[in-house]
Amino acid sequence: MVKHAVALMLSGIAPAGAVVAQSAASAPEVPAWAFPNTSPPFVAARLPYDSVTLLHVPNSTQTFTLARVKNTFAPPDWYPTSHPVMPPIVATGRPRAVWACGYCHLPDGQGRAENATIAGLPVEYFVRQVADFRTRARHSAVDTWGPSSRMNDVADSVTDAEVMEAARYFARIRVKARYKVVERAKIPVTMQVGGLYAVSPAGGTEQLGDRIIEITEDVERHELRDAAAKFLAYVPPGSIARGKVLSSSRATSKAMACATCHGPSLRGAGLVPPIAGRSPSYMFRQLVGFKTGARSSATSGPMQAVVSGLGTNDMIAAVAYAASLTP
Ligand code: HEC
Ligand code: HEC
Repeated sequence: MVKHAVALMLSGIAPAGAVVAQSAASAPEVPAWAFPNTSPPFVAARLPYDSVTLLHVPNSTQTFTLARVKNTFAPPDWYPTSHPVMPPIVATGRPRAVWACGYCHLPDGQGRAENATIAGLPVEYFVRQVADFRTRARHSAVDTWGPSSRMNDVADSVTDAEVMEAARYFARIRVKARYKVVERAKIPVTMQVGGLYAVSPAGGTEQLGDRIIEITEDVERHELRDAAAKFLAYVPPGSIARGKVLSSSRATSKAMACATCHGPSLRGAGLVPPIAGRSPSYMFRQLVGFKTGARSSATSGPMQAVVSGLGTNDMIAAVAYAASLTP
């Protein structure tokens, strides 16, 4: 723990909030690096924030202004032919009570590292999660972390009928491969932008240590909510092979193999959600949530048992492997 804090200080990365560990020695670790700051001052300064200047992303014929991109009740749809017709709750939400699901999760549900990929989830699992956000049986291990607490707000106001419409819509869409997992001991110096990381323009390198640093490969495309923008996740050397053992080995004493429940290629099985090819930092936050009890709904028992035997390194390895697979 102390080692992490020192590494963070040496690398010049301000821990996101003070929540690095709980007070009791045996309490689960809640690493600050997994909850990066959500304000993106760097990008805002580069793109003109008005409702006049038309902005573009590669491979899309659409144009939107930054004011439109930031409209929580009419988010941009850069690839309108890449998904079925959106139900109103996804496209516009319900002004002013419920932000459009498509604002954070994107019109095709591919999501972003700081929220969640919700395309391709089993309908029943999807509906149950929103209900759990509403009762707070599911919340973030860092309660003040913006993206997650806003999901709790959405769950408070959305109706069951709207959730069902959204769940059926997103279940029809296939998940795209957008997360590349790369093992490195040393990584470029990064900065926190909007709930994830980007390479710092100042340059330089630093030790990764026991962290997952997930970066957007193009800050502007990310800021423009381009659903085709890609992510790169740096993980410690050896993580993917170790995660593979955790995922598939029957002999491992640490935890029940992930594949037992999530399916042989981790693409989900029945009501157990798919985890192949999803954001590793999202998944890591979920494992921390199961471990701290922030995710403690009626259906979370199996996962709470799984993570009770895993340390931070094991959890990094398990999600690194899952994220490296084809969704
Ligand atoms: C402000 C951004 C935001 C909006 C708007 C939003 N979500 Fe979310 N959603 C999130 C975040 C962040 C998470 C991950 C929360 C966590 O567990 O930390 C999430 C998680 C979810 C999950 C769980 C996914 C999983 O794999 O378990 C579902 C389902 C979901 N959202 C549905 C919806 C629906 C339906 C809407 C529209 C009514 C919506 N969301 C609108 C941010 C948002
Ligand atoms: C005994 C069955 C079981 C095993 C073994 C298991 N899982 Fe799970 N997993 C589940 C269930 C069930 C859920 C949904 C929990 C809920 O409803 O809250 C889940 C949820 C998850 C989630 C959250 C997904 C989301 O969309 O938010 C992640 C991440 C995850 N598991 C990773 C793993 C990893 C990594 C392993 C192996 C180290 C593993 N699981 C082993 C049953 C299992």
